Amino acid sequence: MRKKPWANEMIASRTDCVITDPAALKGSWKQFSVNGEVHLEIGAGKGDYWIKMGNMYPETAWIALEKNYDCAAIALKKSLEQTDPNMKFIIGDAALAGEWFAEGELDVIHLNFSDPWPKKSHAKRRLTSVSFLKDYRTILKKDGKIIFKTDNSSLFEYSLLSFEEEGWKLTEVSVDFRRNEHPEDAITEYERNFMAVGQPIYRAVWQPER
Ligand SMILES: C[S@@+](CC[C@H](N)C(=O)[O-])C[C@H]1O[C@@H](n2cnc3c(N)ncnc32)[C@H](O)[C@@H]1O
Repeated sequence: MRKKPWANEMIASRTDCVITDPAALKGSWKQFSVNGEVHLEIGAGKGDYWIKMGNMYPETAWIALEKNYDCAAIALKKSLEQTDPNMKFIIGDAALAGEWFAEGELDVIHLNFSDPWPKKSHAKRRLTSVSFLKDYRTILKKDGKIIFKTDNSSLFEYSLLSFEEEGWKLTEVSVDFRRNEHPEDAITEYERNFMAVGQPIYRAVWQPER
């Protein structure tokens, strides 16, 4: 991602949604939700999913988390005029999520087209690796869920095994999610590109307790 000279200014101007000290909100994210639900999207990229879902479900709190500063700036630019009070943005690393969210505070975690990190030596960086799953289990409520979409068959297989190893319950699985219409679920930037070249979208949903 090329450096965006306007990134600092854009991010600083978005005081309506950028949370600069997420740890200070630990345990109180529900304040942004009308129906009591809090969804976290990890690796939000340029923000399409966050914007569309946040607008489509205004009663639910939608928190985007993105570690790449320039990417976050693009999402924040794109969402000008489209950010409802239920939508918040954290610029940071998912490895710190346990410091920002209290035990059982989240209803749903969305992982959309997470980086595959194909080298075995980088496996720990995958957002579905065992150490991340341990953190997710803590911050998700007992009957919460993780919804994962990817184009990458190797990452999908790896993730199925990783969740299995950690004792999660697989509740939904599809190897061609967009075979049917799913108007309830927004299409991400990556997803749109993969769909355009006919790549099937893999999707799975897990719950922490069997
Ligand atoms: C392949 S992109 C997908 C973007 C978007 N979700 C989509 O579907 O179009 C993955 C994104 O996850 C972000 N990411 C990767 N690891 C992360 C981490 N540990 N914490 C936060 N964001 C992360 C990357 O910076 C990148 O923007």
